[in-house]
Amino acid sequence: MRKKNRVLGILGNPLKQSMSPMVHNYWIKLYNLDNYYCKFQLEKIDQIKTAIRALDLQGLNVTIPYKKKIIKHLDKIDKTAKRLQAVNTIFNNKGVLEGYNTDVTGFLLGLKNIKKLNKKKPAIVLGAGGAAESVVYSLYLTGFKNIYITNRTKYKAQMIARKYKEVQAVKWIEYELVNNAGLIVNTTSLGMLGYPALPISLESVKKSTKVYDIVYNPLETKLIKDARKHKLEYVTGLSMFLGQAQESFRIWFNIKPSLSNYLIFKLKKDIKMI
Ligand code: ATR
Repeated sequence: MRKKNRVLGILGNPLKQSMSPMVHNYWIKLYNLDNYYCKFQLEKIDQIKTAIRALDLQGLNVTIPYKKKIIKHLDKIDKTAKRLQAVNTIFNNKGVLEGYNTDVTGFLLGLKNIKKLNKKKPAIVLGAGGAAESVVYSLYLTGFKNIYITNRTKYKAQMIARKYKEVQAVKWIEYELVNNAGLIVNTTSLGMLGYPALPISLESVKKSTKVYDIVYNPLETKLIKDARKHKLEYVTGLSMFLGQAQESFRIWFNIKPSLSNYLIFKLKKDIKMI
């Protein structure tokens, strides 16, 4: 018989600041499940398939630096993960290791919070690192026809842009574009704890411009503070984080867990303590 109290966890390195255990263990308790979610901070993942099967793990989240490297260890991956060549969720389905990417669902959850989103206006995505393509793909799925991607190292932006006819790689922070954008999304590490702030001014953007920072640590980056100062509608990275976690939980347990005010309060408190 299959064990009921199967373990789940997050695979990555480093994991010190990960909020995933708190969120998933909160839901596990809330729904009276007999599981536990822990951290697997591994230096290498060559034996991961054997390990998942031997321990009969129910599932894993996958984060930096393994979102791409994990793929070759899985039995199958879904359409989104294949398109992005990145997996952030593994479901051990009776020994068959399935890979998913829930970052897109997560980003879209935040985007849905924006009241007057104008898809006809250009969207500008800052950064072309690990998280950028899930954002670009989400915007493409939402129906944005005019997406600019800008990165300090331009060729990385070009690599993403060439996969989508709606996307164009442009020079790093060009104000002519920034000031006419309907949506500005930060996917760089700038603004994150320990990094400098994003060097962008919102001084001359349109009042209708929306700002989405996928950084959630700190909760209020300089970009978000600036957006508030200029009375622009904004979304913080907390939405994307919670959205991807919610979708992973749904894949593992077939339960769409609630995003209660209490959970959000708890999470905000924990983030402040990092
Ligand atoms: P990587 O791309 O190395 O996998 P990442 O954390 O996934 O790392 O992405 C970091 C993102 O933040 C990249 O877009 C990076 O720009 P580069 O591709 O030019 O490195 C961006 N970034 C980090 N520090 C930056 C800085 N000081 N100025 C501008 N962009 C920066």
